[in-house]
Amino acid sequence: MTHVQLHAATSHDSAPAVTHPVQHSATIVIFGASGDLTARKLMPALYDLWHYGYLADDAPIVGVARREKSDEVFRAEIYEAIRAEVRSGPISPEKWTQFSKRLWYHTLDISQAEGYPALSSHLDELESTSGTKGKRIIYMATSPDLFLPAVEHLHNANLIPGRGSSEWLRVVFEKPFGHDLPTAHELNNNLRRRLREDQIYRIDHYLGKDTVQNILLFRFGNAIFEPLLNRNHVEQVQITVAESQGMERGRGGFYDTAGALRDVLQNHVLQLLCLIAMEAPARFDAEDLHAEKIKVLRALAQGNRGQVDRWAVSGQYTAAEIKGEKTPGYLGEERIPLDSRTETFVAMKVNVDNWRWAGVPFYLRTGKRLPTRVTEIAIQFKLPPLNLFSTVECEGDICDLVGARPNTLVFRIQPSEAISLSFSTKRPGMQYQIHPVTMDFSYDKAFRQKMPEAYERLLLDVLRGDSTLFMRSDELEAAWEFVTPILDSWATKNTVPQPYAAGTWGPQAADQLLWNDGHKWREPE
Ligand code: BG6
Repeated sequence: MTHVQLHAATSHDSAPAVTHPVQHSATIVIFGASGDLTARKLMPALYDLWHYGYLADDAPIVGVARREKSDEVFRAEIYEAIRAEVRSGPISPEKWTQFSKRLWYHTLDISQAEGYPALSSHLDELESTSGTKGKRIIYMATSPDLFLPAVEHLHNANLIPGRGSSEWLRVVFEKPFGHDLPTAHELNNNLRRRLREDQIYRIDHYLGKDTVQNILLFRFGNAIFEPLLNRNHVEQVQITVAESQGMERGRGGFYDTAGALRDVLQNHVLQLLCLIAMEAPARFDAEDLHAEKIKVLRALAQGNRGQVDRWAVSGQYTAAEIKGEKTPGYLGEERIPLDSRTETFVAMKVNVDNWRWAGVPFYLRTGKRLPTRVTEIAIQFKLPPLNLFSTVECEGDICDLVGARPNTLVFRIQPSEAISLSFSTKRPGMQYQIHPVTMDFSYDKAFRQKMPEAYERLLLDVLRGDSTLFMRSDELEAAWEFVTPILDSWATKNTVPQPYAAGTWGPQAADQLLWNDGHKWREPE
């Protein structure tokens, strides 16, 4: 297919709209400071926020974990971990000295109440010189079974300011948030005993990605696409979150308790679905956005009940040779029981049962050890009512007659972030022949700058007190309401995931789901 490059007009054609960063200040406390997330995501994001002027110089960052450690050792470890990860480029010694002087370490067994008064005194002491008194963020980068005990202990140590207080505390929770609907509901209820909804930030890091936010800006910032996004014009929608990685960095232990449905589909894939399917909010704010997303999730739960095996497929990868290298199967990975039935792949055909989308199939898939890492949403439109012209695809002078190609709008979320629209055009020559082409907008070519990391944006929003890009309790439960019957059905029937060779696009049953409708999965480039 021929490609036409599109570039951003705004950077050259209009007066620059410079937005100066506003510096925010708070004491940032990370529970679970020795973990992978802190080193690979949170600390680089905080460094970059500071580097680009969004985080004040005086804001203390306190790592909290069980192991005894000095501030100096903590700083040295963080430096080693983040120096290759920051977006702003190499960290000079001067920059590091400036940044690292606000890094502190506090030893605490998060599960035990005794240590919390000492944490409280330590924070007071740091804040007596930092100017962040009364403004605190606690980031729960811990295992989820510590969420509730930690919040209880924070409450008992008077670390949670009450309603009407001029002080504030925002608590950020990493996923998984619950294991199914009853556990998510219970966790929400228990947290609500100690924290108000406006103090809770439930992270889905996909919402921090610029390309994910752009789905809404693209849909509601342009006039020409939105009238087409409905059952009258759309034939099908495909959402793919594919990963080529398996169980690297010792993730197997956690993953085996989750599986692809809980780990990625319940959150990231459903959020993408919400953004592509929702109605325009009355105002672009947290409340109206949540309200619209919930309607999609309810229509989803409503439209897909019973007979799970007919519309959902689970898979598990088996050993294979990928690019000449032997790759273990899931059961051969570290920390995975030999008889595990955890799915590493899930594909499904779902209906969004509402006025706009009734009858349009949404095909969703996600998995590990697929051929490539790619996240994309493809909206395929209906074919023209009449086929007046023949369609050809050519390589040089050799052309093949092919079937008519539908217009497809693709949001490429990552990597090679882009939006492309395929359409038919006349092939130059003496015949009336159609040749499919695409118009491509590539973020990289248009903006020539590195996009912020998802965690950078989300941490900034916590500092700003903006929960638009976080999951509200009812939204989260609505997502579980759709997913839980699938989990229950697999558990009751003892469903064994279907095998697929590592490095392929999942089991054949996933293809069959679409063949039944006369469709097929796209193969992302
Ligand atoms: C996480 C999952 O939420 O998302 C991981 O737990 C997955 O299993 C990751 O690898 C994918 O995120 P990204 O940003 O790399 O697409």
